[in-house]
Amino acid sequence: MTIWIINGPNLNMLGIREPGIYGKGTYEDLCRYIRDEAEKLGVETEIFQSNHEGEIVTKIQEALGRADAIVINPAAYTHTSIAILDALKAVNLPAAEVHLSDVTKRESFRQISYAGMACREHFIGLGFEGYARALKAMKNAVENALFSPK
Ligand code: DQA
Repeated sequence: MTIWIINGPNLNMLGIREPGIYGKGTYEDLCRYIRDEAEKLGVETEIFQSNHEGEIVTKIQEALGRADAIVINPAAYTHTSIAILDALKAVNLPAAEVHLSDVTKRESFRQISYAGMACREHFIGLGFEGYARALKAMKNAVENALFSPK
């Protein structure tokens, strides 16, 4: 089973950007954490990060036929990008939304999540752990789809 992790803009700046909100862990720390958790779960993973909306859209499209599920933190594009929402709907893979910070308690412009409308699970404000929880949820979603009687 392969689960792709897709991260949006400025997440490569973790550890430097607003540590009071996002923590002191770096993006490399996050990637290591995700790889370790994926290994524990026995799932293959590929981690992608881009600061460009179109590259994220293309990556989601490329998941079709290559990944069984998607874990996505679209970062600021969460709140603006209908293109990312449409791409997630287009591939129609099980998807989970992750946010390190608790966006529900932040500015009003962070209260809408377009990408989240195409995600069946949401892990918000749990820091790195949100990715582990999302991987587990997507593994279960794929397994249930594979083994549920037709
Ligand atoms: C974020 C929350 C977004 O509102 C913000 O633009 C980010 C990161 C998070 O992980 O908490 O860049 O997605």
